[in-house]
Amino acid sequence: MAGFFLVLEGPEGAGKSTLARALTARMRTAGVEPVVVREPGGTPAAEALRHELLHDDRAWTPAAELLYIAAARADLVAKVIRPALRDGRVVLSDRFDLSTRAYQIGGRGLPALEVEWVNQAATGGLVPDLTLVLDVPPEVGQARQVASGKRQDRLDREAEAFHQRVAAVYRDATGPGLVHLDATGTAEALADAAWRALRRARPDLFGE
Ligand SMILES: Nc1ncnc2c1ncn2[C@@H]1O[C@H](COP(=O)(O)OP(=O)(O)O)[C@@H](O)[C@H]1O
Ligand SMILES: [Mg+2]
Repeated sequence: MAGFFLVLEGPEGAGKSTLARALTARMRTAGVEPVVVREPGGTPAAEALRHELLHDDRAWTPAAELLYIAAARADLVAKVIRPALRDGRVVLSDRFDLSTRAYQIGGRGLPALEVEWVNQAATGGLVPDLTLVLDVPPEVGQARQVASGKRQDRLDREAEAFHQRVAAVYRDATGPGLVHLDATGTAEALADAAWRALRRARPDLFGE
């Protein structure tokens, strides 16, 4: 049986982690045990890179930041995602390559072609089967983060204009297997919509 690669994307506070938990529970009820990962991270090396990336005191250049994220992704793809998909597993990733487009091209302003090449090197051409983009205005996501008391990391504290550029990439993103979901409603309404998208994509796995 072919595996299935699901990615959740969207700005900070959109509800990706909340949705990942809800979908994991629904998949288990449907008899599917997903392999759940988050980016950057998911392997010991990638978690170490994540710690460096989000660390308060680091002043990475945009290019260094891109290469850190790419190194973490390369390790995660090779050691966790590809082996799981080969075994026919469902892989659920909290962020993937669209995040690099949003933050490194949109947010940082790196040349798109360079970022796409680095992404290609990191993924070896692996493309998600389904990318759910959670649409919320960045102010809503930020307000949710503040309300939750989440400690702000280095990227969270970027200027308002940075987050607006990130949000614009998410808003305008299109492509094969990419589905936008309204994430301004309740977490449950979002989980229902996401589940419907999953069932459309793979009725054999997530159907009745
Ligand atoms: N649909 C929603 N409506 C209101 N608050 C939400 C919703 N989804 C998540 N939250 C809350 O917003 C905060 C950020 O959600 P989270 O899932 O961590 O977002 P992300 O992983 O995209 O940054 C959390 O405190 C969460 O409980
Ligand atoms: Mg999260």
